[in-house]
Amino acid sequence: MCGIFAAVSNEFVTSTLVGGLSSLSYRGYDSSGIVIVNENGLQRRRAEGKLQALSTLLAQNPVEGYIGIAHTRWATHGEPSERNAHPHMTDRVAVVHNGIIENYPDLKASLERDGYHFESDTDSETIPLLISRNLDKGMSPETALREAVSQLDGSYAIAAVFADEPQTIYAARYGSPLVIGQGAAGHFISSDSIALSRVARNLCYLDDNEIARITVNEIGITNAGGCTVSKELKPLIISQQDQGKQGYKHFMLKEIHQQPEVMRNTLNHYCDAATFTLKSEAFPANLSHFERLSIVACGTSYYAGMVARQWFERYACIPVDVDIASEYRYRESPFSPNTLALFISQSGETADSLAALRYSKEQGLTCLSLLNVESSSMAQESDAFLRTLAGAEIGVASTKAFTGQLLVLLLMSLQMGKASGRLDERAERELIQHLYTLPVEMAKVIDEMASIDKVAESLVHSEHTMYLGRGMSFPLALEGALKLKEISYIHAEAYPAGELKHGPIALIDNKMPVVMIAPPGPMMGKTLSNLREVSSRGAQVILISNGSGIEMARQHITQAIEVPETDALLQPLLYTLPLQLLAYHVACLKGTDVDQPRNLAKSVTVE
Ligand code: G6P
Repeated sequence: MCGIFAAVSNEFVTSTLVGGLSSLSYRGYDSSGIVIVNENGLQRRRAEGKLQALSTLLAQNPVEGYIGIAHTRWATHGEPSERNAHPHMTDRVAVVHNGIIENYPDLKASLERDGYHFESDTDSETIPLLISRNLDKGMSPETALREAVSQLDGSYAIAAVFADEPQTIYAARYGSPLVIGQGAAGHFISSDSIALSRVARNLCYLDDNEIARITVNEIGITNAGGCTVSKELKPLIISQQDQGKQGYKHFMLKEIHQQPEVMRNTLNHYCDAATFTLKSEAFPANLSHFERLSIVACGTSYYAGMVARQWFERYACIPVDVDIASEYRYRESPFSPNTLALFISQSGETADSLAALRYSKEQGLTCLSLLNVESSSMAQESDAFLRTLAGAEIGVASTKAFTGQLLVLLLMSLQMGKASGRLDERAERELIQHLYTLPVEMAKVIDEMASIDKVAESLVHSEHTMYLGRGMSFPLALEGALKLKEISYIHAEAYPAGELKHGPIALIDNKMPVVMIAPPGPMMGKTLSNLREVSSRGAQVILISNGSGIEMARQHITQAIEVPETDALLQPLLYTLPLQLLAYHVACLKGTDVDQPRNLAKSVTVE
């Protein structure tokens, strides 16, 4: 949460800083601000609300210079307001911060005792005040920063500029990401590499406890002890596909349409297309040694784990637990030593998932992560990690990362089955061959979803909806309901269809639309019985099924979304698509901010 961007350049930097914040807005968007260092000292502009508010302010009250820091915020300590927006500053130093300072009450008390006054309600303001106190003791800017960060408990990525050293930006990190870019005009600092793509050609990542001193010509990095760290700058490679909306109205729609490509890239990474076999070397070597699998994640990634549980049970014959990270780490459940802990996270930075990973490591478990961001904290701290090949996901509501996770988890379950001898060569080849039809099938489903507009119209005025499904369609129902909640703000609940009569059926009346997910298969008959139960109580039923499922239920449904006939293996991946598109179209009809829904952020680095 929160995005940091900074620039020291031969050219004016204000528009570069705002451009950087625009790319980082997915990390938080309740306020933003910049500090420019120029002949008038540290010049600050801040505004509450989305980045446009800052742009408007800058048009009314411009500021320019060759060096500056910038921030886009997701509020943790202190309400979203201009007063709490970053940068926080004194007359000697300005700081932008991403992370949480856990010991800030103690630090604040100590600073206030020494006469340092807080203007905001944030934990972050502790940092410029600590630095200022050190400067007032006569320390140099670098020493003042080094001493200040040594007092912080929690996580931080920081960029700081000093009135006394107007040509330098300092950066420091512990637990929150920070990347330094080198471009033709100067140097840049960012919370992610994509935001650097407009200005930088090369990059390097700052590691925990390192401090960078950056001028227009030089990057100097030191470790906690002050010793120089030499880092290789690597070329910044961002695929064309990852840049901008590529003609789509929203990032979310672009990312929905990218899913066939994500499937293709994932298959090619983990499978051999010539032989339709798994590339065993693409997976960790010892997967078959484990007797239990413990999957831990948050949000959409958690639902991916719930879907995958059934694949691991079926193909790898391994018992599986699936936990929400924020619950798992406090549960103190007994671990068997032969448990593989698997963490699923798009960002690799989610605070609860990261904390759960650290907790599992302390318990002596082998920790594997499935991540979309290779440079993330979870990648660094896991024993091994697998990649989803979703590319940059900017829409706050996860789409392509989810289906990317599903496919890797399915392939991993097959690999575990293969490694333990439960999946023979013939079965492996048949399954992988089916999976290779996925990109084309997905593209077909996305293209043929024109009818979804009409279905969306019927939901747009609802206050509540219920999503029902059985088996793997239950976690899909949870994910579909989450998508609708996140971006359209319509209350949506999801239940296993068989659980309906144990309570939720009391909610059913003609004001409760029900989205029923019923792919063909052994569960279909039972799901259609549940469908009749809700329709006979007045519910407007939207059925997502194949042609014959829709035909069978015709008298009991108001609307239908048809998914083409497909192999059972592909069903969860294909049935996700109408759920994503339905939520998207409802949100568009409601006119909400699809890519930046209220109160949310993409990378949740607070517990
Ligand atoms: C946030 C996002 C969700 C995401 C969840 C877990 O809540 O808004 O879309 O599923 O975090 O994120 P992760 O990066 O760990 O998958």
